Parts: sequence; C-alpha cells; structure tokens
Amino acid sequence: MQELRIIGGRSLRGSVQISGAKNAALPALAACLLTNQTTTLSNMPDVKDVGSMCALLEALGARISRVNDSISVDTSNVDRHNAPHELVRKMRASVLVMGPLLARFGMAEVALPGGCTIGNRPIDLHIAAMKKLGADATLIKGDTHLTASTLKGARIYFDRPTVTGTENVMMAATAADGETLLENAAREPEVVDLAELLVKMGANISGAGTDTIRVIGGQLMKGATHEIISDRIEAGTYAVSAAMTGGIVTLTHMNPRMISSLLEKMRSAGCKVVETDTTVTISGLPPFKPVDISTAEYPGFPTDLQAQFMAMMCLADGEAVITENIFEDRFKHVPELNRLGAEIVIRGRSAFVRGVKNLLGAIVTASDLRASASLVLAGLAAQDETRILRIYHLDRGYYRMEKKLSALGADIGRIDGEGP
Ligand code: EPU
Repeated sequence: MQELRIIGGRSLRGSVQISGAKNAALPALAACLLTNQTTTLSNMPDVKDVGSMCALLEALGARISRVNDSISVDTSNVDRHNAPHELVRKMRASVLVMGPLLARFGMAEVALPGGCTIGNRPIDLHIAAMKKLGADATLIKGDTHLTASTLKGARIYFDRPTVTGTENVMMAATAADGETLLENAAREPEVVDLAELLVKMGANISGAGTDTIRVIGGQLMKGATHEIISDRIEAGTYAVSAAMTGGIVTLTHMNPRMISSLLEKMRSAGCKVVETDTTVTISGLPPFKPVDISTAEYPGFPTDLQAQFMAMMCLADGEAVITENIFEDRFKHVPELNRLGAEIVIRGRSAFVRGVKNLLGAIVTASDLRASASLVLAGLAAQDETRILRIYHLDRGYYRMEKKLSALGADIGRIDGEGP
C-alpha cells in the first residue's frame, strides 16, 4: 500500500494553481441525469471521488468522455435508477443521484450510507424533503426506494442546513409542479455553482447563496456547458502549508472571498495575506499567535479546514481552542498529530491545542480526506522524516498534492510501503 514520505523543514515558495472543486464537481455530475442530452463540465478535478461518481453514472447507463479537464456526460441511454451500497459506502456523495433520478424517472433506489469516520451522517433530511415533494419512501434491505408518479412543489424547512441535502432537493424540485421553497438551505458556494448549472440546463431557480431558495419546477431540462468553481478547501490547505513552513506561496485560479473566514484567522495568527480577485499570496512564520476557531456552515469557518488549521495551531505560542460543530467525530487526526509531537487534548466538541516549538517526524495514519491533509501539513513543518500511511484518502479529493507541493519546494514523495 502506498505511503507518503516527507522530509520536513523546507520553506515552500512559488505559486500553485488551484483545481476545480470536488464538492461542486460531484453534484454537477449528478445533475447531468436530469436531461437526456449531453452536458459538458470543465475545470473538473482529476480526483478519485470524481472517478467514482463517473463510474456510478456509467453503471446507470450514461456514457462519459474526457478531454483534458472537461468531462462530457451523455445521459440519453440512462435506464437504471439505483445507487448500490458498494458505491454509496465508498463515497457518500453517491446519494446525490437520488434527486435527479426521482426527477427524471419518478423512481430512485439509494442505499443508506451508514456511519463514516467523521460521524453518523444520516440522510434523513434528504428523504423527508423528497416525501414533502410527494415521493413515497420505503426502506428495503438497507436501500431507500423512492417513487413518485408526479412531484409537487412544497415548502421545505431543513432542520439544519445540509449541503448535499439542499443540492439533492434543488435537483428534484426542477421536476416538481409549481413552486418549491427551500428554507434554512445551505449557502455554500458549491450550492450556488450547482444552481448556476441547473439554470443553464433550463431550471428556474433563485436565491441560491441565501438561506431561502425558490425553484419553479416543470421546465424541460437540456444539456449545457459549465465551468466548475475553484476548490476553496484545496486553496485553504495550500494557504496553511505556506505559513507552516515559513514560506511564501501564491494561490492562483481561485476566489479569495470563498475562504475569507480562514484568511482572517490566518491574519490574526500573524500571517501576511495579500488578495487580488483571483489570487492570494500568503506568507507566515511559526510561532503563530494562538487563534480559536469554531466550525460553522458557510460563510463560517469550514469544517473541511478544521484539521489543517489545527495543524497550524500546533505551532502557536500558547493555547488555541478548535471547536467542531458540524460533525460529531471529526478529531481522528488528533492522536496522529500528537504522535508528531503536538499537545492536543479533546474535551467534548473542542480540542485544546497547546502550541509546541517543533513537530518531530514519525509514522502516522490517515483516517479521512481532510485529516490526511493536516498530517501532510504537519509533516512538511516537522523535523526529519514523516511517513503517512493510508494515503488513499488524500487521492479522493486532492489533485496531485505531492506534485504540487514538490513544485513549491517540498521534499515529499510516494513510496510503496508495508503499512496496513
Ligand atoms: N445531517 C443530518 N441529516 C441529513 C443530512 C445532514 O443530520 O439528512 C447532518 C450531518 O450529519 C452533519 C450536518 O447535518 O452533522 C451537515 O452535513 P451536510 O449534509 O451539510 O454534509 P454533506 O452534505 O454530507 C458536504 C461535503 C462535506 C462537508 C460538509 C459540510 C460534499 C460532497 N460533501 O457533506 O465534504 O464536510 O458538506 O460542509 O459536498 C469533504 O470534502 O472532505 C467533506 C466531508
């Protein structure tokens, strides 16, 4: 099994191009199912999760073709409507086909995802909303079977904002008669990007980016072309890598406003941040001022950058409190960071990070995508060699991370290890 080997202590310098957003690419691929015409998506990141979503679409009957960073999806032959457990278990975002399949065929069978390494992550809010739109839902052998002869517009209030829930319902509502109002909807940029694609496909949607989204359903959905937005989480990860290594890095092809919450915290920690419309240049040097963060829905501090910011606070001059409010179990990186010499104690939803002078290389194990990223960052800043096992998590969401980091001057490489 492959491992990452990092010799820490090199300052990163130069510029890095940010890829398209995985979490915008996945719903966009699912949205292709809403039409029987071809949709072409560009700026698609070549990451494993995108490959898994393409495999799911192909299993449903779609034909996929790739040219450079563009993916075209021909859905004229789609004739199946089930997302099996093997795929949903591997990638929870597979549930995003539920809304489009229900819209197009009046039927969808989607396996319940079950728990994962960051929390329970139920999809009850997705299903409750589909029922409000008029679908019947039955659980058969772990799969939710949804059927609807017609979908009817409805007022849907989400108990809590859910990103993929909002996306799923927005897609289903394009086929519902009349108006659907999504209240307490997620405001993430990826939701806005999906709404823009759906509008290009023919949908009538307004309010995306606010907590109330209005969809007037029943429009004929056609093929479209669309460029996926940049990955704000990838951008944030490289921003932290620059500061932790005492370097200076310019992030290009991105939108700094999408990571304002992180950049403000980095400024408070003592980093220098210079923004243009499409770039950010970050420089920093440990020890950082300790800065507390508390994760929240957009535009709050993203849970997907919590682990990376925690890695940075390991090198603070004092104690920082990192509170995780989105997922109940997203601290799996803490014991691994401690193996690298960090001093972190978890109490309830908060991690108390007492800064240390230096991190020291060790063998650590990645548990999920963003936890892996935090270990890479810590390894880049640590003395001596760090080896990260189970690195396949990283490939789910970061395009060529070690290549991008090497180009910035990091000593990092992939090796075939004997790890578990
Ligand atoms: N929730 C429910 N019931 C539901 C749906 C969600 O209780 O039916 C809860 C979740 O358990 C969680 C909270 O609501 O506690 C918010 O979860 P949300 O539904 O917003 O998460 P998601 O849509 O499953 C997306 C991203 C995640 C990201 C979260 C939060 C995609 C494909 N995934 O997940 O990305 O962490 O939003 O921003 O968009 C990642 O990229 O590493 C990743 C995990």
